[in-house]
Amino acid sequence: MHIDIITVVPGLLEGPFSHSILKRAEDKGIAKVKVHNLRDYTEGKQRQVDDYAFGGGAGMVMMIEPIAKCIAALKSEREYDEVIYMSPDGKTFNQSMANELSLKQNLIILCGHYKGVDERVREKYITREISIGDYVLSGGELAAAVVADAIIRLIPGVLNDETSALTDSFQDGLLAPPVYTRPSEYEGMKVPEVLMSGHQAKIENWRFEASVRRTKERRPDLLQGRET
Ligand code: ADE
Repeated sequence: MHIDIITVVPGLLEGPFSHSILKRAEDKGIAKVKVHNLRDYTEGKQRQVDDYAFGGGAGMVMMIEPIAKCIAALKSEREYDEVIYMSPDGKTFNQSMANELSLKQNLIILCGHYKGVDERVREKYITREISIGDYVLSGGELAAAVVADAIIRLIPGVLNDETSALTDSFQDGLLAPPVYTRPSEYEGMKVPEVLMSGHQAKIENWRFEASVRRTKERRPDLLQGRET
């Protein structure tokens, strides 16, 4: 998978993809994230990417030309399944969206800034708008990093068995159960016996019940319409 992220602040995306699981995904040749500076697609010394809004009002609007040029350059190299725009107006990101997007080959993610993009960018290029929650970030970059991370870790081969995505919170519609490691007792706090019993069926059953209990307590909304 190729994920190409278009931004006016590439520095914000320098860190996340060169570490840990995301770096391993790239090293293994499974997923490559490339960050593109929108200013490289501008003309003139100013390298201008935004301008005043027609009709007035506070805040600048990202212009269509540099975005169009950048997208055209990317599309001349490969085909893309989607052009995603990160925006608080988008559909709220969740695990099922991450699952769906992890099956795609190539994605472009456009990060909004200022007052957002000229509406014609949305009309002409954007196939999906994603928000990571009901709050406003200063730009779409951190949101794009969240989305790319959630997608990439689901691609087969990225995680090893120990970190398998199948047992993540939300993957089965429930929160994950509590986990423990050594020591088996810490200041009088004991690990549940069953987890050390070696009885796999009982362990699985305990984990399922603990998941349901935790979900009921913390996120009862996830259980609506489901028998438990
Ligand atoms: N850009 C600004 N706020 C955002 C949000 N909540 N989600 C996605 N992109 C954003």
